[in-house]
Amino acid sequence: MKLFDVYPLYDVTPTRAKDVYVYDSKGTEYLDLYGGHAVISIGHGHDHYVKSLTEQLNEIGFYSNAIKNPIQQELANAIGEQSYCHDYQLFLCSSGAEANENGLKLASFTTGKKRIIAFHNAFHGRTSAAVAATDNVAINAPLNQQQEVTFLPFDDENALEIELKKGDVCAVIFEAIQGVGGLDEPSEEFIYAMDRLCNSYNTCLIADEVQAGFSRTGTFFAYQKYNIEPHIVTIAKGMGNGFPIGGILVHPSIEAKYGMLGTTFGGNHLACSASLAVLDVLKEEGLQKNAEELGKYFIDQAKNIPSVKKIKGRGLMLGLEFDFEVSDLRKELIYQQQIFTGGSSNKNLLRILPPLTLQKKHFDIFFKRLEKALKAINV
Ligand SMILES: Cc1ncc(COP(=O)(O)O)c(C=O)c1O
Repeated sequence: MKLFDVYPLYDVTPTRAKDVYVYDSKGTEYLDLYGGHAVISIGHGHDHYVKSLTEQLNEIGFYSNAIKNPIQQELANAIGEQSYCHDYQLFLCSSGAEANENGLKLASFTTGKKRIIAFHNAFHGRTSAAVAATDNVAINAPLNQQQEVTFLPFDDENALEIELKKGDVCAVIFEAIQGVGGLDEPSEEFIYAMDRLCNSYNTCLIADEVQAGFSRTGTFFAYQKYNIEPHIVTIAKGMGNGFPIGGILVHPSIEAKYGMLGTTFGGNHLACSASLAVLDVLKEEGLQKNAEELGKYFIDQAKNIPSVKKIKGRGLMLGLEFDFEVSDLRKELIYQQQIFTGGSSNKNLLRILPPLTLQKKHFDIFFKRLEKALKAINV
């Protein structure tokens, strides 16, 4: 059987990985500044993570949500403690799209409404409502287009209020820092306006923290740079360091009912132990602070590169914008300089999403090799 060919691939085959390095079958070492798309949070193959998963697998790996699983409560307690969202309730699933799908569905159940407001350049995943709230017609099938979604620009408070006043909007979904869209952020005033307007018009505010959450940006959640309380926070990616797990944090004002949400795989024993190990390491190794400090270091160093037109992001969710498309630069970096980086829907943006265990010396290596790569492509 052939694979269904939906991914354009780089010609590299990693067979092993440790911390911030990935190795291919010939033993070539690559510096991982992509983290498998912001997934690797505590570094590849972290000893505590491997030990926790192995021990859990030797006990019990999976059983359905029809039985008690105390590790789910342990995980809820740990996320509550580390995110300061103590009062929220946790529902577990297995991916970012599924988290957003459940968040949107819950918003619709709770408000009895069905239109969604999302933002230009947003990316929320590939499931039915999540992809409809993603600003990319190319990945929306006719089936998805039956969802009612209105896209607005960030920072247009007036437009947002006009839409919310119509009374049919169940959710406003936003990324405090856009990931796939290219690291744009709403202004502080607009963040507070979304929070206020959603509360006045009985609409759920959903913070999509699938990519930015779990300490990547230097706060536990990227929206926590501000003092707001979203009704729903969606999480995945760095939460499991590669083990598929996602979830939603639900504001205490929203009441659960039996059967409202559900899943076979979500919150299984292995997934919970992976995420608990991630939280242990984030805390023990001070990785949130490391992300914050290294982000500043990167921004300072990047200012010295003349061809960089804009430096974007915070913590270890960063980008360098050039006045040319970066696809050749990314190829040069991976094939000649052995560095993985990311792209985005902004074709001029090189994205940097490393494991949060990265050190200054790794950024020093990156900047040296970036200089060589820029020369090689005649910039
Ligand atoms: C902000 C955001 N939301 C949702 C998703 C979808 O997550 P997944 O691919 O795990 O379904 C992504 C994936 O890149 C994302 O960046």
